[in-house]
Amino acid sequence: MTDPLNAQAQSYQAPTDILKDRVIMVTGAGDGIGRAAALAYASHGATVLLVGRTQVKLERVYDQIINDGGPRPSIAILDFKTAIADSYESLGIQVEQEFGQLDGLLNNAGMLGHRAPIEQFPVGSFMEVMHINVNAQFVLTRTLLPLLKKSSDASLIFTSSGVGRKGRAFWGAYAVSKFATEGLMQVLADELENTPVRTNSINPGATRTNMRAAAYPGEDPLSVKTAEEIMSPYLFLMGPDSKAVNGASINCQS
Ligand SMILES: NC(=O)c1ccc[n+]([C@@H]2O[C@H](COP(=O)([O-])OP(=O)(O)OC[C@H]3O[C@@H](n4cnc5c(N)ncnc54)[C@H](OP(=O)(O)O)[C@@H]3O)[C@@H](O)[C@H]2O)c1
Repeated sequence: MTDPLNAQAQSYQAPTDILKDRVIMVTGAGDGIGRAAALAYASHGATVLLVGRTQVKLERVYDQIINDGGPRPSIAILDFKTAIADSYESLGIQVEQEFGQLDGLLNNAGMLGHRAPIEQFPVGSFMEVMHINVNAQFVLTRTLLPLLKKSSDASLIFTSSGVGRKGRAFWGAYAVSKFATEGLMQVLADELENTPVRTNSINPGATRTNMRAAAYPGEDPLSVKTAEEIMSPYLFLMGPDSKAVNGASINCQS
């Protein structure tokens, strides 16, 4: 049974311009769910900072937002695999200088890594997945929190997974990284309870992207929802209608 908060998020119809005058950063904005979220936020009035590692993909999203008549976005190239402390500092300075505000951060970028039993799991792959899926979003969030706290209504969203809420054989580092993501979200939600920043996590559920195709190569992609079809909870959690929601783990699909 879907609980009332999930039902509200899944059926949410975002009013036009609900994100007007807000500046929102989306990581992994060049493809898949991040791309759909960036476009959805822009089409509801937000100025979106498109963060990712592949410039050409980010430029395509940038062009689409402009063609659709959205607020002019901004691009920041950041590869979470190779980023160092200075890379995060520079991004923080870019946001502050270009916009002077940040009202939302969607931590969406992530990688799947190997699928193997823990006993045989390649050590390097485990470290890499944990670095990109957990460590990087910790450093990025830590860097941007002072700016988010200056907003009168800021939303911090982490991206989880079904295997981040119940462990499943052979999902290895990916599952562990998503449990850690839920933990990071919960700690932040508690710490920031009396600030203007609310923190929640979102589980997209089966969604037609490159990652899903890599995880389920035998699946007919048409049998799962597109990223565009699961945007209601992304809009709900990012906008003012979820102002009272903090520390929640939301599912995009029942
Ligand atoms: N699709 C699903 O069914 C599903 C289900 C549950 C959870 N999720 C979660 O949803 C989020 C989005 O996944 P998706 O399905 O949209 O996958 P996707 O299409 O593979 O997109 C992943 C995004 O993350 C970016 N990324 C990966 N490694 C990066 C790095 N080192 N530095 C910077 N950016 C990096 C990718 O950039 P490039 O495009 O440049 O490679 C891409 O934009 C992930 O956190 C995933 O775990 C997805």
